[in-house]
Amino acid sequence: MFTPKLLGWPIKLAGGRNSVKSSIITNSRIVFNIGGVDKSTGMFDNAQYSKIELCRLKMNVKALYKLGYGLYVVASRKGDRFNGQIANTVFQVTSEPPTIAISINKNNLTHEFIKESKVFSASVLCQDTPLTFIGRFGFRSGRDIDKFEGINYRTGQSGVPVVLDNATGYLEARVTQEMDVGTHTIFVAEVVDADVISDEACMTYDYYHQIKRGKTPKSAATYVEEKVEARKEAKSEVAKYMCKVCGYIYDPGQGDPDSGIKPGTTFEKIPDDWVCPVCGATKTEFERMD
Ligand SMILES: Cc1cc2nc3c(=O)[nH]c(=O)nc-3n(C[C@H](O)[C@H](O)[C@H](O)COP(=O)(O)O)c2cc1C
Repeated sequence: MFTPKLLGWPIKLAGGRNSVKSSIITNSRIVFNIGGVDKSTGMFDNAQYSKIELCRLKMNVKALYKLGYGLYVVASRKGDRFNGQIANTVFQVTSEPPTIAISINKNNLTHEFIKESKVFSASVLCQDTPLTFIGRFGFRSGRDIDKFEGINYRTGQSGVPVVLDNATGYLEARVTQEMDVGTHTIFVAEVVDADVISDEACMTYDYYHQIKRGKTPKSAATYVEEKVEARKEAKSEVAKYMCKVCGYIYDPGQGDPDSGIKPGTTFEKIPDDWVCPVCGATKTEFERMD
């Protein structure tokens, strides 16, 4: 067993957003206090492992933002019931045979449906997809609402719903392999049907965040905590309000033109029946950010 030589030795690591401020050894783990939060390394089996662990603690997770994705509605069925969710983790893994993979949170209803039926569709969303549509499929669960009510879809050859609203194309796939990756399951699936619906530009994950100012829930495979930073950014300006459900920030300077709220409208002046453009929460779910 490797014995850390750091016993009682306060460590400072340079670089990265978080710096290690102090350390104590408990058994064969090291607990660091980073920004007031205790973070523990894994067990120390050898010197190399400890180096990797220390490096992990000071890494800049923002590098993960540099990865590129699209935005999709992944839909499946369980018997006669349909459900679907937003996913950005849809990607092609081989071309012969055409095979894709998706990463789906085990708590999602869609996960339960795919596990059971072994089939799903992935509709590729266009750049103009309204935030309310993404909110419906990406922040609400099919356990609480019927997500397909009022949605334009067709039933695919394997019986799965294929969402057509806001879609530039779709894939229908049959699961061939599953990989348990902790919070999520990666489903690898052979494409059994596909078509192009329009030539409109597709929504990218980056565009969704940067231009549409959309948010990502914790259940997403690529979630990174951003609420605290958003609060800091907003501190200097008064009367911004944050949705407690999804983290969307109402900025009076920008308004919410998609819902008819002009830039310059204070939160107080927004009509009471206005809802969060990302997740559909009511005005009462917002809190002032001071
Ligand atoms: C932009 C965005 C990206 C998302 N990406 C994923 C993803 O890749 N995998 C996943 O499991 N959930 C992802 N989600 C979260 C699910 O869409 C969300 O948890 C949904 O409410 C699950 O619905 P369900 O319980 O009806 O299946 C994403 C949500 C958003 C808004």
